[in-house]
Amino acid sequence: MYDIHCHILPDLDDGPSDLAASLEMARLATADGTHTTIATPHGAQVAALGGRAALEERVRSFCQAMLSQSIPLKLAMGVEYLLTLDLVREAQGGMAITLNGSRYLLVEIDFQQWPPYTDEALFQVQLAGYTPILAHPERQATIQQSPALLEGLVERGVLAEVTGGSLLGDFGDTAQRSAEELVRRGLVHFIASDGHSPTHNRPPVMAAARAALARLAGEETAHLLAIANPLAVVQGGPVTTPGPVQPTRAKGFRWFTGR
Ligand SMILES: [Fe+2]
Repeated sequence: MYDIHCHILPDLDDGPSDLAASLEMARLATADGTHTTIATPHGAQVAALGGRAALEERVRSFCQAMLSQSIPLKLAMGVEYLLTLDLVREAQGGMAITLNGSRYLLVEIDFQQWPPYTDEALFQVQLAGYTPILAHPERQATIQQSPALLEGLVERGVLAEVTGGSLLGDFGDTAQRSAEELVRRGLVHFIASDGHSPTHNRPPVMAAARAALARLAGEETAHLLAIANPLAVVQGGPVTTPGPVQPTRAKGFRWFTGR
């Protein structure tokens, strides 16, 4: 699997506080079946650190640490940005840090508020040449109430990434129901770990969520969301939008028709 959203770098944001915890996350991700993880610290902390060059140095240094421990996880660089007008300006200046140097930009919206500039800001980011990937829409209060809001964004080319743990109920019933509804409507392009620690607090794993997704939407969709689409992001290729999940035929259908 390919994890496009993970706070794995040590002592940077609200992810792991030290190198040992980061290395443990890398071991867990590998054992869980993750091939490549994109480190996506929060934009505000990356800016405070010194921006792109400072982040590249942190990524290099963590790759060295993994190598010295013989951890085979591949690491790429990205950022998780809060959608603000500052981000729009950064994008317009061509300075936003994308996922592994692709055109894909990981963006989150405040969990509670839906700022009035949201649609226009996403559009401006697109006009600047980036493809926004909305992080964890299933945890956003306004989308939880109105999934059609995400439908409108996806129709206009915005992509969506659901946190795997949401499908497992890790963030409560509302987020789980929302995640399932968005998947059923065919609005979700990726699952990712949004890993923050090696413990129960958002570990960097995806396998259980992928299995839940397969039960919900079929193996083909699970493969698309956990492997093919996130790999396309890593490689900078095109992402596929899944269709709505077709309701399965009721059990006994074949018996009743006598075929
Ligand atoms: Fe995150």
